[in-house]
Amino acid sequence: MKNNAILVRMATLSLLIALLSVNTAWSQTGKGTVPQIIEKNGRHALLVDGKPFLILGGQAHNSSAWPGMMPQVWTAIEEMHANTLEVPIYWEQIEPQLGKFDFSLVDTLLKQGREHKVHLVLLWFATWKNGSSHYMPEWMKREPSKYPNITGKNGQPVDSPSPHTQAAMEADAKAFKAVMGYLEKADQQHTVLMVQVENEPGSWGSVRDYSAEAQKLFEGQVPEKLLKPEILKALNKPTDAKGTWTEVFGKDADEYFHAWSVASYIGYVAAAGKLVNSLPLYVNAALRDPISNPSANTYESGGPTDNVIPIWKAAAPAIDLLAPDIYLPESERALKVIELYDRSDNPLFVPEIGSGEEYTKYFYSVLANGGIGFSPFGIDDNGRGEGKAETETRLASIAQEYTMAGPMMRELAKWSFEGKIKSVVEHEDHAAQTIDLGSWQATVSFGASGRQTVQANTRPIGKAMIVQLGENEFVLIGSLCHFNFKPVGANAGKAWQYLKVEEGQYVNGTFRLLRIRNGDETDWGGPRIGAVPAVLHTTLITR
Ligand code: DGJ
Repeated sequence: MKNNAILVRMATLSLLIALLSVNTAWSQTGKGTVPQIIEKNGRHALLVDGKPFLILGGQAHNSSAWPGMMPQVWTAIEEMHANTLEVPIYWEQIEPQLGKFDFSLVDTLLKQGREHKVHLVLLWFATWKNGSSHYMPEWMKREPSKYPNITGKNGQPVDSPSPHTQAAMEADAKAFKAVMGYLEKADQQHTVLMVQVENEPGSWGSVRDYSAEAQKLFEGQVPEKLLKPEILKALNKPTDAKGTWTEVFGKDADEYFHAWSVASYIGYVAAAGKLVNSLPLYVNAALRDPISNPSANTYESGGPTDNVIPIWKAAAPAIDLLAPDIYLPESERALKVIELYDRSDNPLFVPEIGSGEEYTKYFYSVLANGGIGFSPFGIDDNGRGEGKAETETRLASIAQEYTMAGPMMRELAKWSFEGKIKSVVEHEDHAAQTIDLGSWQATVSFGASGRQTVQANTRPIGKAMIVQLGENEFVLIGSLCHFNFKPVGANAGKAWQYLKVEEGQYVNGTFRLLRIRNGDETDWGGPRIGAVPAVLHTTLITR
């Protein structure tokens, strides 16, 4: 479908939803309960106002959280139909002089978030931002010997803060505690859902700190807290290992030592904040290749990459979750990352993902893996002077999904928490895929469908999810896909048909019918969905 047609369809859908709904994401009525993450049977939910909530997010560019830049951020959020803005707060701005705090930008964000009826996730850009310390306040930058960087293997300077500096850690913890304490008072209605502590911590350019002080620690004993059998097992090491880092971890010693050091520092900062405010906290990861087990000098070492999650969990218990920033469009890799960060001890949340159309499909994978939210990075035009039409086109693919998901966000969050959602996304080979549903099996093929034909997508952007509400009752959602059911198991060999395929929308907890699909819209194999996502409440029957 051409962009214009998509936009018209989306506008109609938005209008319909606006007429039917109040904003289900926004039920703040004064002092509410603090957002919290709960776990049941290894699955997780983010509770907001006491009920599972799905973050339909978007992250602003790094330098956009200034009052003069915010209008374009809100334009993007509105365009996307997002319910949550992820936005940085800057240590250098908040503590311009030692011990003197300025929360004016935090106030602006809280006020504007409430005016727009959009929640916030605040990103604490402090000791680490993408491995460097460029957001440390000036008074720290001017004292490099008090707040040093790490030293590389051959003594070379590395643009990455040392995790072994007590003074920096105390300063960060004090400032973070001040921020969290401020939020506790200024945000009793819980506009803020979560806080990210630092940003993509770790080091580029050196696997660890080789300074004399760090070397001494490295040659010391591995801390008891890390020598628990279950942790060693998860790290593929003998469960009774003990001794120095090299003795216990062999070739992985340098990276694991750095991960432990960075995680302990951030764990300390996080714990200081948690003392005064129990909001969920997380740390985001610059990923390593999730499949090839690459050497640590090829990625940002020390951050919560998939191989060191157990180390982070042991070192930083005040952190509720470790979150992958996904900039790997290829389906095998992106899906592997989602699988690796969906753990019974780690709620899945994708705080950053590319904003291009090729990434949108992973929203479905995140839901099927029990994720609590999804948030493309760099949503605003970042001062480029983009026109409205350009913003619309740039954000169209995620906007369509959020337009669909917004009014049924509570249902999606609940179904995801209950493990009722299964999804498939189109891979680079465009092949059809199956979803097992007990006594039914669905085959999903991808492409723009005519009545009998499917025209293959030129790019792998198709997606589908199936929510299983009962043995024969499903909600089918997707775009550029074609569903085809087959009776299997107890139903194998039986004649069957669609009892009813209802197209519509869940609004405020009730399904509102747009039409009953029948005839060409369900024959020829099964229901097809074009470029605009649709929600099909579908019941099958055997005869
Ligand atoms: C990942 C970082 O976490 C973001 O802050 C931003 O720098 C993006 N990379 C840029 O692509």
